[in-house]
Amino acid sequence: MFTVKANWNKDKAEEALLIGIWSDHKKLEGIAAVLDEAFNGHITELLREGDVSVMAKSVTKLHTFGIVGAKRLYFIGLGRRAEATYESIREAFGKAVQMLKREKREKAAIVLETFENDRLSSEKLAHAFAEAVVAGSYAFENYKERSNERDKKLTEITVYSSDSQTGAGLSTGHAFGAGINTARNLVNTPGNLLTPKDLARAAMEIAIKYGMEYEILEREDMERLGMGALLAVSQGSDEPPKMITVKYKGRDTWDHVLALVGKGLTFDSGGYSIKPGANMHEMKSDMGGSGSVLGAMEAVGRLKPKTNLLFVIPSSENLINGKAMKPGDVFTSLSGKTIEVRNTDAEGRLILADAITYAKEMGADYLVDVATLTGGVVVALGDCTTGALTNDEVFFKQVSQSAGHEGELLWLLPSHQPFKDMLRSSDVADLNNSTGRLGHAITGGLFVGEFAGKTPWVHLDIAGTAYSSKPSNLGPKGATGVMVRTLARLAMNFK
Ligand code: BES
Ligand code: ZN
Ligand code: ZN
Repeated sequence: MFTVKANWNKDKAEEALLIGIWSDHKKLEGIAAVLDEAFNGHITELLREGDVSVMAKSVTKLHTFGIVGAKRLYFIGLGRRAEATYESIREAFGKAVQMLKREKREKAAIVLETFENDRLSSEKLAHAFAEAVVAGSYAFENYKERSNERDKKLTEITVYSSDSQTGAGLSTGHAFGAGINTARNLVNTPGNLLTPKDLARAAMEIAIKYGMEYEILEREDMERLGMGALLAVSQGSDEPPKMITVKYKGRDTWDHVLALVGKGLTFDSGGYSIKPGANMHEMKSDMGGSGSVLGAMEAVGRLKPKTNLLFVIPSSENLINGKAMKPGDVFTSLSGKTIEVRNTDAEGRLILADAITYAKEMGADYLVDVATLTGGVVVALGDCTTGALTNDEVFFKQVSQSAGHEGELLWLLPSHQPFKDMLRSSDVADLNNSTGRLGHAITGGLFVGEFAGKTPWVHLDIAGTAYSSKPSNLGPKGATGVMVRTLARLAMNFK
């Protein structure tokens, strides 16, 4: 997909050439100056007149009429040098990629050095660009008759750069982008076409592709082991539940294991505590946590970090039938702790409870769970910020630094004792799965934390961030692939 070439010159034939342009340049330098000269100073003039925009994330296209080798120039506005961030440049790349996609271009080239500033190395820029190309040109292949006519795709990209790290950056960005799209595809798939067995198959396929070990527990295995919480949720469905685990061995010994646990609820009707009808169809995205985990698995498979990873996905539907769990029912989880189900719609924490316990049994030393867990987190943090909880500030710092590095927004919620006390309000069981509206993003997360115990744990509630009602510079509306980059970065840098 990407070819790195050292020397650009104005006679190189290209279909589409991407060039960065800062708003605070004094006069055109380097490549832009070369182009300007070829155009007898007209680019300077267009800039002065505002016909070529230097505003951050704007893209202006110029036809060259054969004056230089490139047929079309795409000036990507970057704003002021001092204000540019990794994320703003990544989005600017995304904007340009989407323009190329609309124009059905199959080939493009970029001069990477025109995007450089003091804070962004060629490697980081190459990463951002490759990621923007892969994730920014994403479209979900839907089920409409006409959309079966396949679009032309951007597949041949030349990156002009003389930096030796550019290739590495492109590979990382490509892998991260592929991971994001893996998550998006899973999350966008309707609930009838992605049931727990389909999710298990998707995990298996990635595991096999990259030579990872996997295990899928069936209902009978769960009964033998005592996974009462996951089994409780699946009672109401004809589709059998699956407990999916994949091991990635990046070290000689199976120690220092980082477990990534993702909620794989392939459809959440709420159960007997049924959800309102209006937006229930969006609950096909309730396996978003497992999407992020499998997206990270795809990226890891490509990049092969020296970290031991355990991927765990508890998967079930939450439906209603004569056997479904009911409010007031009590179940014994794999940990031995008993749970009173006060609300059948608080099912994510139930399946995660057994997944966390199982991850520890399989050797997890560190736990991150990712889940579309609560509507409460959407009210608190909106659709741009993922809510977090932790029992270990040092481990949380590693996770939040990974998020910061990738430009994903994360905010830590408090784990104060009164919230933990609320979980112990059942008269008949150790834990109550639903303590009401007050602080319920926090109590929901802390419920999962009860099963992590003393093992360092971070919870990521992506109920607001996994699915978007509007398109962005890096993709269409629908599944976002949130937290794939954070998890993949964490896996890459894990110490
Ligand atoms: N899957 C939902 C949470 C959710 C809400 C995800 C909105 C995405 C968008 C979860 O299982 C749920 O229903 N949570 C309840 C918990 C409550 C009953 C304690 C909620 O948030 O209302
Ligand atoms: Zn629910
Ligand atoms: Zn749910």
